[in-house]
Amino acid sequence: MANINLIVNGSEYSLDADPATPLLWILRDQLDLMGTKFSCGIGQCGACTVLVDGRATRSCVTPLSSVAGKQVITIEGLSADGQHPLQLAWISEQVSQCGYCQPGQIMTAAALLAKNPAPSDDEIFVAMSGALCRCGTYPRILQAIHKAIELGGVS
Ligand code: FES
Ligand code: FES
Repeated sequence: MANINLIVNGSEYSLDADPATPLLWILRDQLDLMGTKFSCGIGQCGACTVLVDGRATRSCVTPLSSVAGKQVITIEGLSADGQHPLQLAWISEQVSQCGYCQPGQIMTAAALLAKNPAPSDDEIFVAMSGALCRCGTYPRILQAIHKAIELGGVS
């Protein structure tokens, strides 16, 4: 066990935990942030994606020690009021089906737009390609990313 400082959604936490604990376990079990999903658990599906210093990061395979002192943003921290352009676009394009993969999809898209505010379809496909959706919402995800850009992208 070790004492590790973490910044999640702008709040600082001091955790006494095994440094090898996956970040996803900490988010869900200790910080009660249930928006980030557990699916494959081996870094293959993207359901657990959060931002770490702005980069899309699979929290199921990210040890707590590697994010000490870094800025972690989960789906709960994307906006204070649900008015982030991606959230508005996801609603207007009715992207979600079962919804399980969607926090990871949105956080992956957030990392893309932060880096590239006007991506081409090909750039979107590449950036989103590792975020799997068993409901097949990919066409609506593409539409929603374009809609989010229209709505102001990522400020
Ligand atoms: S649950 Fe982390 S990538 Fe699938
Ligand atoms: S909406 Fe069901 S897995 Fe993506």
